[in-house]
Amino acid sequence: LGGGPLSGRHVIVTSGPTHEPIDPVRYIANRSSGAQGSAIAAALRDLGARVSFVTGPATAAPPQGVDVIAVETAQQMLDAVETALPADAAVFAAAVADWRVTGAAAQKMKKGPAGLPQLALAENPDILAAVSAKGADRPSLVVGFAAETENVIEHATAKRLRKGCDWIVANDVSEGTGIMGGTENAVTLISADGAEAWPRDSKAAVARKLAQRIADHLSAGQAQ
Ligand code: C5P
Repeated sequence: LGGGPLSGRHVIVTSGPTHEPIDPVRYIANRSSGAQGSAIAAALRDLGARVSFVTGPATAAPPQGVDVIAVETAQQMLDAVETALPADAAVFAAAVADWRVTGAAAQKMKKGPAGLPQLALAENPDILAAVSAKGADRPSLVVGFAAETENVIEHATAKRLRKGCDWIVANDVSEGTGIMGGTENAVTLISADGAEAWPRDSKAAVARKLAQRIADHLSAGQAQ
């Protein structure tokens, strides 16, 4: 009981898409399944971590044995992450919608002679960047994801610096890889030390490897 290299550690994981309402019945969303996020939360749990799993409306089931905080919008996801802090590490695997609709309608919008509705968009908060920029409350390890379709390492390396996170898990989601919505993933871990390509493997195996790296990193930090 209570064993595992992450016992006593708290890790926040975001997962799934977000839904941004247009009116009470319509929303903007994306095709994220939440599969990789669920696998990461399960792998962290298996190493003994207490996991706060902040998930948008994903199709993948949340794992057992984690604290599930279900949200819909990016703003709710940010609020839930801030409420879950402090944490030793945070992994931002969610596919957060970049934009929300400003002034979402309180009632269902109707077709009619007035013509087409005009949707105005506003930029959503960047949860990864916001948490990376925190002071005393910043987790000692902040991990982001980068789904790219070209120049994967170059773009992900720039993203790591722009977001202020410690690691970026970069993956090539270009057509033909079968990664988006698939069961496998091929990632490159980008850190201050450079880029390390991992062999293509199941999302569960990639999650276990990442969880083990997080455990190694946190225990190395403790030893210093
Ligand atoms: O900028 P981009 O969306 O490609 O960055 C991806 C990374 O940033 C992922 O880790 C994602 O979870 C995180 N992100 C976020 N909040 C946003 C947009 C992205 O946490 N609004």
